[in-house]
Amino acid sequence: MRRTGTASRARRGRRPRAPAAIGAALCAAALAGCGGKQSILAPRSEQTHVISVLWWWMLGAAVVVFVGAVGLLGLAYVRRSTRGLPLFGEREGVVQAMVIGFGIVIPLIVLVTLFGASDIYAIRYSKAPAARSTAMSVQVIGRQWWWEVRYPATGAVTANEVHIPVDTRVEVVATTADVIHSLWVPRLARKIDMIPGRENRILFDTDAPGTYLGTCSEFCGLQHAHMRLTVVAEPRASFDAWLANAGRPAPAASPAGRREGRALFIARGCGGCHQLRGTEAQGTIGPDLTHLGSRSTLAALTIPNTPELLAAWIENPQAIKPGNHMPDLGLSRAESQAIASFLEALK
Ligand code: CUA
Repeated sequence: MRRTGTASRARRGRRPRAPAAIGAALCAAALAGCGGKQSILAPRSEQTHVISVLWWWMLGAAVVVFVGAVGLLGLAYVRRSTRGLPLFGEREGVVQAMVIGFGIVIPLIVLVTLFGASDIYAIRYSKAPAARSTAMSVQVIGRQWWWEVRYPATGAVTANEVHIPVDTRVEVVATTADVIHSLWVPRLARKIDMIPGRENRILFDTDAPGTYLGTCSEFCGLQHAHMRLTVVAEPRASFDAWLANAGRPAPAASPAGRREGRALFIARGCGGCHQLRGTEAQGTIGPDLTHLGSRSTLAALTIPNTPELLAAWIENPQAIKPGNHMPDLGLSRAESQAIASFLEALK
């Protein structure tokens, strides 16, 4: 229903700053990408340092070109003629030279230089690591909508969390189990597409311990935006301890007080999709849950890993991540809580 006259003016009058607020929010959102946890402008590897330097040079060149073009536009406005005379008096040669210079020669020089710089500089630093030039290998497999992470040398399997040692050249082998995804951890490495039937390789190599956010940067379906991961770069000793634990099978006996949850996990068929290494649960459709309690997030960083949220996720996964492939098993609140409590004990 439309109201007319004073009523609608009064309603508009109550929110005079809405467009300004929206504009400010959009600016803040746009600028948020320039810093923080997921920014190419805060590099933590040689490769991303080179990429960010190139980015600044490209920005600088773009600013010079833009300012030059706007300056000429301003000059043309100031010297405009209402009598149909040429811009620069009667000298047509000058106009022609300007068109050739600013329209052909300068763009050619700028574009060829930037192309050459990106080719020589950035591509050389971000190409796939040479065979046998790395100290270890990690497989990252894109799936709708989460990341499977395998350490082939040890049998460790996890999800949405890649651990690497610092000061170590790590080869990342990127593949997909379904559609095209793209693995991107902006502070550590370039993007790499995950293409069916292909193995693409990139290098993770940082000397800065920390937790780095990554994201899927190729639209891959309904929950593309909820397909994120973390890379935990840590000193060698703590990485080795993590890997040794991640490679162990699930405990044979139920953790104390968690027997009911374990029995429900098996009886309700969770093992049809999920694996608990060393038990009868051997599913490979969903994430490996052998050490779920040691992970910091659930559902590819959609929610933090807490007993309450895990129970809510098990009870009704579609409420948290609509469209995901985890079925609603019709579990009661108490059953979901028992399973969650069992899984959280698997450190
Ligand atoms: Cu996977 Cu987008």
